[in-house]
Amino acid sequence: MTESVVWCDGTFVGTAVAHVSVFDRGLTVGDGVFETLRTYGGVPFAARRHLDRLERSAASLGLAPLDRAAILEALCAISERNGLGEARLRVTVTAGVGMPGSSRDTTVPVTLVAATALGTPAPSTSVVVAPWTRNERGALVGIKSLSYAANVRALAFAEAHGASEAIFANTVGDLCEGTGSNTFFVRGGVLVTPALASGCLAGVTRALVLELAHDLGTPVEERAASLDEFLAADEAFLTSTTREVQPIAHIDDRAIASVPGPVTEQLAAAFGRLTASDLDP
Ligand code: PDD
Repeated sequence: MTESVVWCDGTFVGTAVAHVSVFDRGLTVGDGVFETLRTYGGVPFAARRHLDRLERSAASLGLAPLDRAAILEALCAISERNGLGEARLRVTVTAGVGMPGSSRDTTVPVTLVAATALGTPAPSTSVVVAPWTRNERGALVGIKSLSYAANVRALAFAEAHGASEAIFANTVGDLCEGTGSNTFFVRGGVLVTPALASGCLAGVTRALVLELAHDLGTPVEERAASLDEFLAADEAFLTSTTREVQPIAHIDDRAIASVPGPVTEQLAAAFGRLTASDLDP
């Protein structure tokens, strides 16, 4: 059996012995950033876009520049090193070892790359509206930071209500995003997704789906959208690295009429063709 390994600052280490300090600032205060990628045929998908976002997140948080080439090499090797077929790849960059307070007293980040098994996303899913908001003017907007407990709490809420994702509105009541996904809906043949000003993460899958929609000639609006519009959608779907294009069947108690609707189906098929033909779009 292959021993499970993780990559820690340049070296592959057995997961049984790999460790981080109890004073690692990622652990004590969520001071750090991360990326989730997935492989297709063992190859990391859209690595350039994910590493671009990782660098942007790290720079926004004031972390030292990353060794991008070394991280990419680790991403390309790690699923095979772990004997995995399709894998979920996780890059974690913490601010490093320092005092456990908000004032950062270290400039030496810790970088980890790990791979875990990945299942196939469900063909459709149910979502609930979270009873909490995203702050579109918050300090972490646009940063894929390690401070994810608000997402953990909201996802637990969704699961307790029989759904797989919780959808956040922002502080002005507009549709924002899911705990780990972006949201799209279709009304009257127009594809709508919240603009980045809503406070949502600039999802890699979101950007690719927008590009595919433009290529297909689908009318697209990237704008502020009210939660009511979302609730009244003809079609709706989530996008993320692990969900790909996933049709939404229910929002709270409301059944979406068309699952997958024709626009969703067309985009999901186009996304499937993309992942089969271009692994670094
Ligand atoms: N989540 N919004 C949030 C808050 C996310 O955490 C994610 C990604 C997305 C979608 O981004 P992308 O298309 O680049 O995966 C949107 C990853 C999958 C995670 O939770 O690990």
